[in-house]
Amino acid sequence: MTISEIDTVKSSALGEIAAAATPDAVEALRVKYSGRNGLLPAMMKGLRDVPPAEKPAFGQALNALRAEVAAALDARKAAVAGAGEKREDFDFSLPGNWRGTGSIHPISEVIEETTRIFAQLGFTVADGPDVETEFNNFDALNTAKHHPSRDERDTFWLGPELLLRTQTSPVQIRAMLAKKPPVRIINPGRCYRRDTTDATHAANFHQIEGLYVDVNPVSLADLKSTLSHFAREMMGPSVKVRFRPHFFPFTEPSVEVDLSCHVCKGRGCPVCKQSGWIEILGAGIVDTRVFRRVGYDEDCYGYAFGMGVERIAMIKHGVTDLRMLYANDLRYLRAFL
Ligand code: DAH
Repeated sequence: MTISEIDTVKSSALGEIAAAATPDAVEALRVKYSGRNGLLPAMMKGLRDVPPAEKPAFGQALNALRAEVAAALDARKAAVAGAGEKREDFDFSLPGNWRGTGSIHPISEVIEETTRIFAQLGFTVADGPDVETEFNNFDALNTAKHHPSRDERDTFWLGPELLLRTQTSPVQIRAMLAKKPPVRIINPGRCYRRDTTDATHAANFHQIEGLYVDVNPVSLADLKSTLSHFAREMMGPSVKVRFRPHFFPFTEPSVEVDLSCHVCKGRGCPVCKQSGWIEILGAGIVDTRVFRRVGYDEDCYGYAFGMGVERIAMIKHGVTDLRMLYANDLRYLRAFL
């Protein structure tokens, strides 16, 4: 073996590798040169017969050759990967592996849709905790000390002045304490009441609160047009909206708002208890006493509303039992895909 023999092997090996066009051809060259019975191991064995004085030079040249061939094989393998496969063998009409994509739960859908509608009107989303102070949930909202909603049979009390919020209205207080007018927020969130669960009640449910306060006049007409716009966007253009006088401690005047029943289109059915209407929210003009409690100027104007998310989801989808929304029965939830 001579050094020039080694050079010849190197140039022919590198030439052949560069010309290999498919993974199979590269593999054949790997066997030919680097395989157990290949040319390079055989040359390594030939090192035995080289005179001792020349061994280091030969050894170095052979190691370099081995490394260069291995690198060239790897590079070529990567370059031709996939080449030569018979594409026409692949049947593109075969069905793929279906992975379920999931869908949005009706409650999340109502929250997302409501947020979108009010975002277009300039409302931003405010946040508040589920564990609230008595001040934010009741006192600041002008709720009398003896009001029945404070009773421990209605409210989950966690401590002397701490509770699970019974409504999203405390977020109004948080928003006003955090910022001077104008304030235009909505807040979707969980609420808790010691209600016995039945077809239309749950101890844990969702509301979406809205509050608009400005130093310029904000009237009941603004509230009505905003909520009517919301109802049409949410339920479609044919929905009818009804405002009824009501009482809430934190608004004066106060209203309750009904939508024409989506299931029977107002003719009367079991979902609307034959009335043709379903109540979805409470609202009103913010009471000056609330402004006083948060340190706002009493000359401010504002309206507020709080709607029941489950109610809206039920009307929208004709759901007759609220418990079905929480049962996590995929057969049922798939109906909303
Ligand atoms: N928090 C009330 C409830 O849970 C709903 C409500 C009524 C919210 C009037 C308001 C409002 O913001 O102005 O029944």
